[in-house]
Amino acid sequence: MTPDENLESELKRQTRFAGLLHPESCDSTQDLAAQEPTDHGPSFGDAVFWADHQTRGRGRQARAWDDTAGLDLAVTLRITTKLHNPLALPAALPVAVLQACEPIAGQPLRIKWPNDVYAQDRKLSGVLIDRDTNRPNTYRIGVGINVNRTTFDGNLADIGTSLALLSGAQQDRHALVLELATRVDAMVSAIERGHLREHEDLFRERLGLLGERVEVQARETSVGILTAIDFENLVLDERVAVPLAIVRSLRRAR
Ligand code: BTN
Repeated sequence: MTPDENLESELKRQTRFAGLLHPESCDSTQDLAAQEPTDHGPSFGDAVFWADHQTRGRGRQARAWDDTAGLDLAVTLRITTKLHNPLALPAALPVAVLQACEPIAGQPLRIKWPNDVYAQDRKLSGVLIDRDTNRPNTYRIGVGINVNRTTFDGNLADIGTSLALLSGAQQDRHALVLELATRVDAMVSAIERGHLREHEDLFRERLGLLGERVEVQARETSVGILTAIDFENLVLDERVAVPLAIVRSLRRAR
């Protein structure tokens, strides 16, 4: 069995992902996942799209996302499910990424609002979620992880880190794709069942802002003590609740 065949078979066995598409290169795995029809039978429903290199990788807010060909991870996990609280996804997904990466990084990772994973002050991973109005129950969860590269330019110059740098060793990307898919699958199942307490505890811990004076940009800019936060809302000063869906920025107040 090739590593890809083995990965596809483990994905089928251990997760909801019944298909794997792994081209050497594409524009963006988000677009690949959008083009590939969802109604082709089981192997093209919930599926993993992983490119060794993206020529036009996309980040949030129309930024570019770069990778080093064959060294990093550019993956889109496509899921179709009817979630009663889909707004939990953007906050929940970096927790799944963090769970997949932390054992390799060998140190506690943190979440930087809205959905980046950092090791101290260096960015390790970013998440982008796409959803179309004509297929509202299909989510394309794009995850970029710096895995085996050791130098950074563009958006990540001066702020990038990788699993190889953190662990001191080159990492097996097939194993990481399987671990990531397993963690994302478990997270989506938790959202489907409404059993989020453990994941929300980890989210709060790794966001690290609870009890701190924060600045929140939503409809307006507010400053206050962050007294509660879960995957749907935050609360300032025990009385002002703000839905995360409208929060554009959340950071420690200066
Ligand atoms: C960000 O930090 O702004 C989000 C980065 C998301 C990058 C991933 S890589 C796989 C998928 N394909 C893309 O074009 N983007 C996402």
